[in-house]
Amino acid sequence: PYPLYEELRKNPVLHEEEGGPYVLSSYWDIEALLHDPRISSDAANLAAAGDDELSGPEATGLPPSFIRLDPPEHDRLRRIANSSFGPPHRPRRIENMRGELGEIVTGLIDGFGDARQIDLVDQFAYPFPVTVICRLLGVPREDEPRFRAWVDPIVAGLDPDARTSAESQRTAQEARLQLGMYLNGLVDQRAREPRDDMLSDLVNSHGPDGAMTTMEVLSTAVLLLIAGHETTVNLITNGMLTLLRHPEFLERLRNDPGLSVKIVEELLRYEPPVQIVPQRTCIADIEVRGVTIPKGSRIWLMLAAGNRDPERFQDPERFDPDREDIQHLGFGSGIHSCFGAPLARLETQIALSELARRLENPRLVADPPPYRQNAVLRGPRHLEIAFDG
Ligand code: HEM
Repeated sequence: PYPLYEELRKNPVLHEEEGGPYVLSSYWDIEALLHDPRISSDAANLAAAGDDELSGPEATGLPPSFIRLDPPEHDRLRRIANSSFGPPHRPRRIENMRGELGEIVTGLIDGFGDARQIDLVDQFAYPFPVTVICRLLGVPREDEPRFRAWVDPIVAGLDPDARTSAESQRTAQEARLQLGMYLNGLVDQRAREPRDDMLSDLVNSHGPDGAMTTMEVLSTAVLLLIAGHETTVNLITNGMLTLLRHPEFLERLRNDPGLSVKIVEELLRYEPPVQIVPQRTCIADIEVRGVTIPKGSRIWLMLAAGNRDPERFQDPERFDPDREDIQHLGFGSGIHSCFGAPLARLETQIALSELARRLENPRLVADPPPYRQNAVLRGPRHLEIAFDG
């Protein structure tokens, strides 16, 4: 249960202090606002509303990526990125990876060797999606320790708590620039010698939407590398934790890998890795439940609170993959809804069904496990699991 979110939903349009954000926590309000063109994701609007912006061009030298842009720029860049990633132009790039994803998972589980206890985060849930996003983009996996040093402060800077600290903002901006410079070396290479990877497709993009500039390629690549790193790890870890607390579903999954599809959807409702979308501002006055949210206000959309809203879901505090209707907010909604959703789903389905199949009698060593300190991204920092073979 999330007692804080239950408390928040009692006051679904919460505004605690002058100049502070409006915190929205009912499912239907969040869903509506994610589709409302009066709610902006634009980095410049956010900065004007008093939130330091990681993606500000003057601050980092890199332009905002499309997660921090409104239409029409957002749509143009997302369409170009899409043509290097999935449908409609390359419908099979993700589905074609099914076999490869299975091999990576098998390799990681084989790597547990004779151990009878592992840390699922360090030994599986982190290396798996990182290996995948590196292969997709065409970033050398062995460089991971280098770019991890830049990814960590960028992710720490997403936390609304950290956003109030000028120092953590500066560190995050600096790290984003360093990561961009590192990727620039690879982008240069791909411009000269394209390969079968997303960096090559992004830098050599052409089509109805034209090409991305080099700076746009770099911002997009930083976005994809970070998004591909830091979210799926939490879905896999939250997933194993939840299944170990609900062993009947673990047992069913062991016998029926197809159940992983429903399990992953219910996990995205019940324990979503992205708990909050805090980077939105109103570009017009908006009325929600009789409250006028004035133009220029910041808005936080509490996805995880919406996912447990009893006005939307029956018995919302129960983990139940057999639900008929699991239209969760775990990937957001509207034009910014998760670009990597098909990949994240497939990765997590394969990961959980293979773990269920291969680990004999798995059990938690500590419950609850230690959690990472980040209000936006929820997931254990480590998850020790013991098993018999
Ligand atoms: C956007 C969640 C995995 C790439 C989003 C948003 C959410 C989300 C909630 C909406 C943000 C907003 O409205 O501002 C997740 C979760 C994941 C996941 C829970 C894993 C379980 C991935 C992966 C990738 C990715 C693997 C890349 C390969 C993106 C991108 C956007 C996005 C590029 C921005 C889309 C836009 O602005 O149009 N994701 N994500 N995500 N995600 Fe994911």
